[in-house]
Amino acid sequence: HSSLYASVLLILCMTSSANGGNILVWYTEASHWINMKPVLDTLINRGHQVTVLTPSVSMFMKTNESSRFRYEPFNVSFSLEAIEAYMEEFLHFSMYEMDQMNYLQIYIRFMEIMKTDFYFSLGYLDGVLKSDTVMKKLKEGKYDLLLADPLYPGSDLTAEILDIPLIFSLRFSLANNWERLCGQLPAPPSFVPAAMSKLTDQMNFSERVWNLLFYALQDIVLEKTFWKELDEYYSEVKGTPTSACEMMSRADIWLMRTYWDFDFPHPFLPNFKFVGGIHCRPAKPLPEDMEEFVQSSGDNGVVVFTLGSMINNITTEKANMIASALAQIPQKVLWRYRGEEPETLGANTRIYNWIPQNDLLGKYIFSVK
Ligand SMILES: *[C@@H]1O[C@H](CO)[C@@H](O)[C@H](O)[C@H]1NC(C)=O
Ligand SMILES: *[C@@H]1O[C@H](CO)[C@@H](O)[C@H](O)[C@H]1NC(C)=O
Ligand SMILES: *[C@@H]1O[C@H](CO)[C@@H](O)[C@H](O)[C@H]1NC(C)=O
Ligand SMILES: *[C@@H]1O[C@H](CO)[C@@H](O)[C@H](O)[C@H]1NC(C)=O
Repeated sequence: HSSLYASVLLILCMTSSANGGNILVWYTEASHWINMKPVLDTLINRGHQVTVLTPSVSMFMKTNESSRFRYEPFNVSFSLEAIEAYMEEFLHFSMYEMDQMNYLQIYIRFMEIMKTDFYFSLGYLDGVLKSDTVMKKLKEGKYDLLLADPLYPGSDLTAEILDIPLIFSLRFSLANNWERLCGQLPAPPSFVPAAMSKLTDQMNFSERVWNLLFYALQDIVLEKTFWKELDEYYSEVKGTPTSACEMMSRADIWLMRTYWDFDFPHPFLPNFKFVGGIHCRPAKPLPEDMEEFVQSSGDNGVVVFTLGSMINNITTEKANMIASALAQIPQKVLWRYRGEEPETLGANTRIYNWIPQNDLLGKYIFSVK
């Protein structure tokens, strides 16, 4: 982690003569926000001031979450129900519909979903860039830098308008489109498998051809569903023809939430820093009954099973399928699941509404996600 703090501090030293920096944080959602919070806490511990841009409508970001952050709220014109309905639709597509579709159907559906996603992204962005009140406050805030997960676009343009350095925190983008095209990260298709292509770095000739096509195909899809319209939006805001990708390339540092030994070997640039696990903290003791359950596994170890921050319920059929598979392994299983208890639940599996994932993984290393 020291590289992150070294980088952040370097920027702060360059732009601020005071001891603590004045950091503006771009809005984000779900696990992206969960990941960001511990980083912000650490920055505050080190004497920096953190201000979080928070939309009036969000599933995860609230303006009362931590008294340590300052909040800069902004209004959006859609409702929480609208976002939740969209998320439900997206999750349903990725968990159920995709299985029964061919490539073309998946592609068409994906384009539709991207379009809706884009509509919400621009709705958020309107709330910041097209609000005189908010932009005035941001300018008066005299921020030293903008820290953003580029999941929601517009942080780059905002940093440009405010004339402050920009730091990205990113896990990855589809086929590494943003890192490659905007961050100039080299990705030779002969040996760097595209993210989500399911390929490895051991490819025969036909797999390499597929890898090349996969990159090209994703680039075309993103150009049509994302870049083209974003270019138009940026151009409208700036009043001159503007390339959103070029704007993204002005990020000074890309903090990548992974590690070189976690991915296949690939070339990197000096302003790409690995910060995987940056949100992890030393394990705290587990609740008593959970500790007892974990210990009862003996040498077999435990499996932590979760479908992430977004998926709370699945169909009974899927739940039973998962439960019966988990019942067959020798480990004790802790499953984060909010639905009804599946009939096929094994004696080795326990369901929890919520699990202290950091503390479990901090102490025990078997994990399935
Ligand atoms: C923040 O406010 C919401 C509703 O306004 C409430 O449900 C939630 O518990 C509050 N969170 C904290 C940490 O106080
Ligand atoms: C958001 O909307 C509320 C209610 O209409 C208003 O009071 C508030 O000033 C708005 N906030 C911003 C930042 O424009
Ligand atoms: C390349 O590997 C794939 C997957 O293992 C295999 O299906 C395919 O037949 C191989 N192609 C060639 C040309 O060896
Ligand atoms: C999950 O819950 C939501 C809201 O209660 C519901 O609309 C949705 O159909 C459920 N999904 C599944 C897969 O059961």
